[in-house]
Amino acid sequence: MTRRDPPLTPVVVAESVADLRSNVVRAHRGGQTIGFVPTMGALHAGHVSLIERARAECDVVVVSIFVNPTQFGPNEDFQRYPRPRELDLKICGDAGADIVFYPTVDDMYPPGYRTFVEVQGLSEILEGAIRPGHFRGVATVVTKLFLLVQADKAYFGQKDYQQQLLIRIMTRELNIPTEIVTCQTLRDPDGLAMSSRNAYLSSAERVQGLCLWRALDGVRKLIEAGERDLAKLQQSLVDVISAIDGVVIDYAVIVDAGTLASLTAAVPEMVALVAIRVGKTRLIDNLVLRLTDRAAG
Ligand code: PAJ
Repeated sequence: MTRRDPPLTPVVVAESVADLRSNVVRAHRGGQTIGFVPTMGALHAGHVSLIERARAECDVVVVSIFVNPTQFGPNEDFQRYPRPRELDLKICGDAGADIVFYPTVDDMYPPGYRTFVEVQGLSEILEGAIRPGHFRGVATVVTKLFLLVQADKAYFGQKDYQQQLLIRIMTRELNIPTEIVTCQTLRDPDGLAMSSRNAYLSSAERVQGLCLWRALDGVRKLIEAGERDLAKLQQSLVDVISAIDGVVIDYAVIVDAGTLASLTAAVPEMVALVAIRVGKTRLIDNLVLRLTDRAAG
């Protein structure tokens, strides 16, 4: 256990599963509620908003920082994913975290590890179709973290819409007694959703990436203006993005917000999901579209 010296960040860093367990047991014995924010680090204001929400709603706040190898494909950015440990610990402390779980890969996946969790149906579509095995890795690590932390509430960003939906379904089906809270996407002033991967973008690529928000906001405006033709809404999403040279669309669709099933006509709760590649970087974003009231998300 490492406790940083005051007046620096008074956050407890649990470096191993055993370390985390003893802290969690102590909190439970004291009758305290636990809020949990799982992350892969390289923390930004989006992560901070989740930690602050947990701080406001729970007695003890646990943040995990673990770049989870099982959710990265062989040609993805696992090796180069940023790992600014000291800065991340400071950000956690400043945002009000009590405990940061910072395990090693060997601690989470000892040699010979072979147990995985899979949410069938949702894991293979959209983000899962482009990144085979990704959601199996996410579901597995989040289940392991949930069993370790035994939180009352766990906080996820709407930024990763399919992920939070998958985790909601998994938690319900496995009878994990943790409430899932989905928090709104934090954006830079120009609309770009905050992401640890934005650090990879050159300034020119960052400008190209703005087409994601322009496309989503364009669809929202069309709906507000009364457009209900799904094909037209869908086409406008694709048109705005494909107008930008050098941007490759992985998918740009409007689907059922509750199931991610494809649609033939508009329904009251839909979500626009977009994923693009700009240079070597993948960016994703989404917007929930409600027909009954103003579009939100
Ligand atoms: P990571 O990408 O670090 O994200 C951690 C959490 O922060 C996720 O719930 C994500 O949706 C949320 N988040 C990211 N950007 C956000 C933004 N701009 N606004 C609000 N929330 C945002 O997602 C993962 O890590 C991993 O897959 C994980 C769940 C930790 C499993 O390894």
